[in-house]
Amino acid sequence: MVSWIDELTPAHVKGLDVYQPGKPIEELERELGISGAIKVASNENPLGPSPRVVAGLPAELAKLHLYPDAGGFALRRALATRYGVDLAQISLGNGSNDLLYQLVLALCGPDEEVLTHRYAFLSYRLAAQVAGRTFVAAPTTPELGCDVDALIAAFTPRTKLVVVGTPNNPTGTVLTTADAQKLLAALPAHALLVVDEAYAEFADAWPEVDHADGLALLAADRRVVVLRTFSKIYGLAGLRVGFALGDAAVMDVLGRVGRTFNVSSLALAGALLALDERAHVTASATQARAQITQLRAAVHGPGVKVYPSLANFVLIECGRESTPVYTALLKRGVIVRPMAAWGLPTCIRVSVARDEELPRVIAALDDVLA
Ligand SMILES: Cc1ncc(COP(=O)(O)O)c(C=O)c1O
Repeated sequence: MVSWIDELTPAHVKGLDVYQPGKPIEELERELGISGAIKVASNENPLGPSPRVVAGLPAELAKLHLYPDAGGFALRRALATRYGVDLAQISLGNGSNDLLYQLVLALCGPDEEVLTHRYAFLSYRLAAQVAGRTFVAAPTTPELGCDVDALIAAFTPRTKLVVVGTPNNPTGTVLTTADAQKLLAALPAHALLVVDEAYAEFADAWPEVDHADGLALLAADRRVVVLRTFSKIYGLAGLRVGFALGDAAVMDVLGRVGRTFNVSSLALAGALLALDERAHVTASATQARAQITQLRAAVHGPGVKVYPSLANFVLIECGRESTPVYTALLKRGVIVRPMAAWGLPTCIRVSVARDEELPRVIAALDDVLA
C-alpha cells in the first residue's frame, strides 16, 4: 500500500538511498554486551584532535549566545595565508559535504549532469540526486583507479560538474599529475572540475608517489574547485567544517546557496586552532602510512587483496561476499565498513586505528578471512 506521504513526494526524492554511516561503537557494545570495541569504519583520525585544540575550545563556550561570524573571516584569512590565495577564493562549509551539495545547487541546472567514476565517494551521487540532477559514473581502471580516458569519453554537452576524489574514498587511489592535466585540458568549456582532497594531507606522507596537486590545477584554470576538510587529518569530524578553494566568482555563487551560519562558532574556533598544529598533522600522516603498510603486509587469506592507499584507510577485496565478513568482525568487536552499497559487494573498507588497537584489528581480519 502506498503511504500518504508517497503521493506528495517528488520521484527523485523517493528514489534516494539513505546514507548508511559507520556503526557507532556504543551501538555495537550495547547490542553485544561487550566493551572495548574498535571502530575502523569512518576514516576518522585515531589520534583524535590536537590536545591544544581541545584545550582552546572551552574559551568559546561563554560566547555561545552569539551567532557565529557568518563570513568566517578569521578562519578564511588564515586559510588564505596558508594556501597563498585571496580571501575571496575561500568558502567555508558544514564539512566539505555541505560544499558538495552547494556546488550542485549553485551550478548544476535541471538538465545538467554530475559526472564522476565508479567507486567514488557516495556523497557525489547523493548531492546530485537530492537536487534531482542526473548522476553519471564512468568506468574505472581494472585496479579501481580513475580512468581519465573513460571519464573524458563520458563528457556530454550536459556535463557540468566533474568530481574526482584524490585520494579517492573508498579505493585510496590518486589522480596522477599527468591525468589531472589531461582531464583539465579536455574539460568542456562550460564545466567545472571539483577535486575532492579530503585526504590530501595523508597523501603528502608518500612523496615518492606522484599525485595531482589541486591548488596547482586551480592556479592553471579557474574552472577548478578544490575541496578540503578538517574532519580527517585534523581530527575534527564532529565539529563539521570544510572549505572550498576556487575562483572568487565561483565562491560568490556558492555563498548565495549556502545556509547562513552553516559553520558554528565552535567549529570556526577549533579549525583556526587546528590549522597551526603542524606537528599533529605530520604525526597523523606518518601514523596512517605506517598502518597502511602493516595492513598490506599482514592481512592475508584466499582471494584476499589489500589495495594500496594514500589515505587513512584501505580497501580490502575479501574474495567472497563481504557482508558476512563484516558481521563476523562485529562479533569480534571490530567495526569495518561493508562496501556493497558502494557497488563493491566483495570488499570492506578498514580505516587506520590507534597503534595499540592495530594488532587486534589485523588478528580479527586474518581470523575471519582465513
Ligand atoms: C572523499 C571524501 N570527501 C568528503 C568527505 C566529507 O567530509 P566532511 O563532510 O566531514 O568534511 C569525506 C568523508 O568521509 C570523504 O571521504
